[in-house]
Amino acid sequence: MIDALPEKGVPADQILAELRELRAGDLPTHGGRLFAYVYDPALDGLDELARAAHALSASVNGLDPTAFPSLLAMENALVAAAAKLLGGDASTVGSVTSGGTESLILAVKAARDAHPSLQNPRLVVPSTAHAAFAKAAHYLRVGLDVVPVQDLRADPAAMAAAIGPETVLVAASAPSYAHGVVDPIPELAAVAAERGVRFHVDACFGGWILPYLRRLGADLPPFDLAVPGVTSISVDLHKYAYAPKGVSILLHRSEELRRPQYFAYADWPGYTMINPVISSTRSGGPIAAALATLRSIGDAGYLDLAASTREAVRILAEAVEATDGVRLYAPPETSVVCLASAGVDLFVLADELAARGWHTQPQMAYRELEPTIHLTVTASVRSTVASFASDLCAAVEAARARGPVELPPLPPLTPEMITPEFIAVLAEGLGLGGGDFSRMAEVNTVLNAAPPALREALLTGFLSLLQRPVQGA
Ligand SMILES: Cc1ncc(COP(=O)(O)O)c(C=O)c1O
Repeated sequence: MIDALPEKGVPADQILAELRELRAGDLPTHGGRLFAYVYDPALDGLDELARAAHALSASVNGLDPTAFPSLLAMENALVAAAAKLLGGDASTVGSVTSGGTESLILAVKAARDAHPSLQNPRLVVPSTAHAAFAKAAHYLRVGLDVVPVQDLRADPAAMAAAIGPETVLVAASAPSYAHGVVDPIPELAAVAAERGVRFHVDACFGGWILPYLRRLGADLPPFDLAVPGVTSISVDLHKYAYAPKGVSILLHRSEELRRPQYFAYADWPGYTMINPVISSTRSGGPIAAALATLRSIGDAGYLDLAASTREAVRILAEAVEATDGVRLYAPPETSVVCLASAGVDLFVLADELAARGWHTQPQMAYRELEPTIHLTVTASVRSTVASFASDLCAAVEAARARGPVELPPLPPLTPEMITPEFIAVLAEGLGLGGGDFSRMAEVNTVLNAAPPALREALLTGFLSLLQRPVQGA
């Protein structure tokens, strides 16, 4: 139990030892065996550099660029680099945000506030768009029109049909997180432009690797600001730019398009608040760390990292194709390998892979899409991937031997029935009480069977159960 406010201060050595002990219980952020949440280029000395840069600017406040011109210079440099990589020109402007979700919320805000007279502004996205668009729509009270996809890709005709007089933004992915496929951006951008609607490309996930994959010869469509009709694009530096967490870039084709993104308020007795992004006070730490990362790796370095990633994807995909019991669910055209079952219980398989040190991300069934296992592949995987094929075979065998999860009949549940007491009993019954999350097949099977609203209620309840202050430390 951690006492965050001890009566007397604790020596630095002890604090760091305690933090290291806590961190030892986490999944491994390095080593190429965790296929979600982390992005590891496996470059010697990069972590140390990024940490030093972070420390140098951690206390700097991005609230006022006239007080801290260092941060303004760094932000402008990062935006310029992203614009250069993503087809921008002399008119391109942008902002540094804290992550993909913030970039998407701001893209939606800019589009909404460009039409102050609309009563019910709406956003059109394909069903494979990231959940952050739903969050943006929810926070900003913008209606969300979710359009079914065809073969995991946005369907331009169906998207066109969804655009109405109140649509302020159309968006699509390059690539989608769940399957790693790139939507047909030129066709979609044309459809939006024809109707005079803004079009945002969510390249948060892959925006920093796609240009390099294309340079390496990958057959991928144009997706960036060079495509006519694309009005904004987002790219997370804490993903394939391999920067520490907390940095994304939102680019707009012009300053005029960016203007409604800003929030300004002078009508109070304190300082006039002008915020280009959601946060007001902002640490310079992540921004300096991102700049250091980009400058250390450089363009040639990113090309090498993309080549390693591409090779790792190829080897992983071949392993999936060669293994009886699983199959590729989506074409491995970017940096994702997404596999589905061909006879094995996927959730048991995910546990068996984890038991062999490969941490993947199960994805639940959604509408007509079956459950899958997602692998975000980063450059570090290249050095560990050789042993994946044999471990996958062994994991499939073990999953077959264990057999599929058989749940006892559950009472019909509705979200309203999910009380804190119910969650506490369920968590205990599913073996989650002790904080061991290594065997999740039963839990995932329950969640997979639950419709989205019930799944949301169950997981919200569970997170709320976890997030409780420590008593009596
Ligand atoms: C395509 C896409 N968009 C947006 C996001 C949200 O990014 P963040 O988690 O940095 O808020 C992600 C995260 O994985 C993503 O893959």
